[in-house]
Amino acid sequence: MNNRRHFIKHLSVLSAGGALAETLLLPEIQRSLDRNNDRFASYSPLELAREEDFWQTIKDAYQLSPDIMNLNNGGVCPHPLVVEEAMIKYHRFSNEIPSFNMWRKVDKNREPLRQKLAELAGCNAEEIAIQRNASEALETVIFGLPLKKGDEVILTKQDYPNMMNAWKQREKRDGIVLKWLDFDFPIENEKTIVDTYAQAITKKTKLLHVTHVINWMGQIMPVKPIVELAHNRKIEVLVDGAHSFAHLDYSIHDLGCDYFGTSLHKWLGAPFGTGMLFVKKDKIQKLYPLLAAPNPRSKDIRKFEHLGTRSFAIEQAIEQAIEFHLKIGSERKQARLHHLTRYWATAVHTLPGVHIGTSLDPRYSCGIALLQIDHLKPVALAQSLFKNYKIHAVAMDYHNIHGVRITPNVYTLEKELDYLIQAISEISTT
Ligand SMILES: Cc1ncc(COP(=O)(O)O)c(C=O)c1O
Repeated sequence: MNNRRHFIKHLSVLSAGGALAETLLLPEIQRSLDRNNDRFASYSPLELAREEDFWQTIKDAYQLSPDIMNLNNGGVCPHPLVVEEAMIKYHRFSNEIPSFNMWRKVDKNREPLRQKLAELAGCNAEEIAIQRNASEALETVIFGLPLKKGDEVILTKQDYPNMMNAWKQREKRDGIVLKWLDFDFPIENEKTIVDTYAQAITKKTKLLHVTHVINWMGQIMPVKPIVELAHNRKIEVLVDGAHSFAHLDYSIHDLGCDYFGTSLHKWLGAPFGTGMLFVKKDKIQKLYPLLAAPNPRSKDIRKFEHLGTRSFAIEQAIEQAIEFHLKIGSERKQARLHHLTRYWATAVHTLPGVHIGTSLDPRYSCGIALLQIDHLKPVALAQSLFKNYKIHAVAMDYHNIHGVRITPNVYTLEKELDYLIQAISEISTT
């Protein structure tokens, strides 16, 4: 009897593990972020973008490699400590008794999380499905849309390879027709881009696939006018927001698109293996899920979440990434990331043989830019940065894009970019 009582008492302590759902920002980090916000409360986003003290506190919230400077945040971003801690905490709790703690307790947080993601994205929670990455979210749309032989989809040669491949697969299997646009970025003219889409539209066009921020060199695409153009002609738009979400300050509702997919392990700084799908409410029913659901024709967005067993610890720690992001704020983050790009790019672009393959106008770029040096192939330039300076950045050598992509993050300081600038000036003159 005593043993039974003891055991039940132990269980009730565990069920207080509902506390797991509470705000998990580590107290000292929370306090220092709050102090930081109080101290700089009166600064505009543009003023704050230059305040290194503010960003040093943000940097202190990460545990980063001490040996290598990471300028490939475009690939995948590290998450701040509070996210890592939450993920570990949820994982440990789940692992005590997975089918009970993970499925019945940790997963209870899914609906509040959906709500928070929707608030951040600027849409209705009933339009948001939690996914494992942008590929999964976007391919749900690419493979799930009811398209038939002869239907046309417009996309560009500068879209992301996974997505281009998915569409090519659909072309092979279903006989849909792909119409490829080919842009010579950077382009600093919205109309040129929109007109190029307009000219490709025919009576058979059913969908435009638009990458919001082109991953190769960071060009920002004018999604809103493209959506307006498409909707005027009863054509739908799928937006690849892998690089724009939590990087640029906008809402999905404002963009007006029909479908949107993004990773959350990029600019939001959520755990690796997290993503999000948005489907406009009245389009959910017709879209088949990628992984079978009990009722594939349901109007419930949750039909896209029948993903089988996966880590709910990873999923739930998205919430701490949102909290951390909100401590900075979307507008301030965009201003800082653009400031960092301008900071290094304007310091090197007049050096002999150095070119920036990205617009520096904040309407057309933010935290991603392409570095080009005349006498060096992209791979050689990336190798030189790494071998001689321990700067990690990635070579882009594809079609009409050649250079090394430089992507700082909120934890990158000006003094680190000074080191990059020094490296570029030495490499360009040797
Ligand atoms: C534009 C774009 N779309 C989609 C993806 C795919 O993202 P994920 O690896 O999260 O599926 C990427 C990844 O870099 C990307 O840059």
